[in-house]
Amino acid sequence: MMIAAVLLLLQAQKPEYVKMDDHDPNGIGYSYMGREMANYMSHEAAPWLDRPERYKEEAPQLLLEALNLKNGMVVADIGAGSGFLSFPMAVKVAPKGKVIAEEIQPEMLTIIEDKAKRNKITNVDRLLGTTEDPKLPANSVDLAIMVDVYHEFDKPYEMMSNILKGIKKGGQVVFVEYRKEDPRVPIKELHKMSEAQVKKEMSVFPVRWIRTSNILPRQHIIFFEKL
Ligand SMILES: C[S@@+](CC[C@H](N)C(=O)[O-])C[C@H]1O[C@@H](n2cnc3c(N)ncnc32)[C@H](O)[C@@H]1O
Repeated sequence: MMIAAVLLLLQAQKPEYVKMDDHDPNGIGYSYMGREMANYMSHEAAPWLDRPERYKEEAPQLLLEALNLKNGMVVADIGAGSGFLSFPMAVKVAPKGKVIAEEIQPEMLTIIEDKAKRNKITNVDRLLGTTEDPKLPANSVDLAIMVDVYHEFDKPYEMMSNILKGIKKGGQVVFVEYRKEDPRVPIKELHKMSEAQVKKEMSVFPVRWIRTSNILPRQHIIFFEKL
């Protein structure tokens, strides 16, 4: 009886996916909490993720500093792509820690495997997830980060529920999203998110907003703690 009541309560909390008649060509035609989800980026565009201009456009070294990573931490890089950030994060948490580079496209994981072999990096694990579940080991992660990824989830509620299962109590979940508030950020609209929208979508989960940093040229870094 009690379990049934809890299940009903959780079900009632889950926001709906709403089919859209008229939608953005860069979107999947479904909205969630007032936002249309974007199509995900194909592995064929992986070279774009590693473009040299990215260092100037996005200042990833500032992001790395802001994360305050320490030796021994376990970091989940959800939607790791070609591993552009997985490898520098792995250096920060070495020698005792590791990065779990998670993806839904096996081709991206092959790129990561090749880079790890070439550069003799042994603390980047690869993990193939689904669009609903990254399949992280339960309560194992200190910090889960999504860099330019969350807006591509086609099942954001399920993904976030499952990501949170993988994070330790008191661990962090970090969103790095292009600032929708800033019209000068030259990225397609559905691939940007406002801080208010991220907070709204996280309001249905047992997390606490910690802070938002705007030190990056184009993206917010939004930190939450798992309660
Ligand atoms: C724009 S790329 C960003 C890659 C990487 N984070 C970076 O900053 O270089 C977005 C990535 O998210 C992945 N993705 C989309 N939906 C996902 C999901 N539900 N679970 C895991 N990865 C997902 C895509 O496969 C794609 O590689």
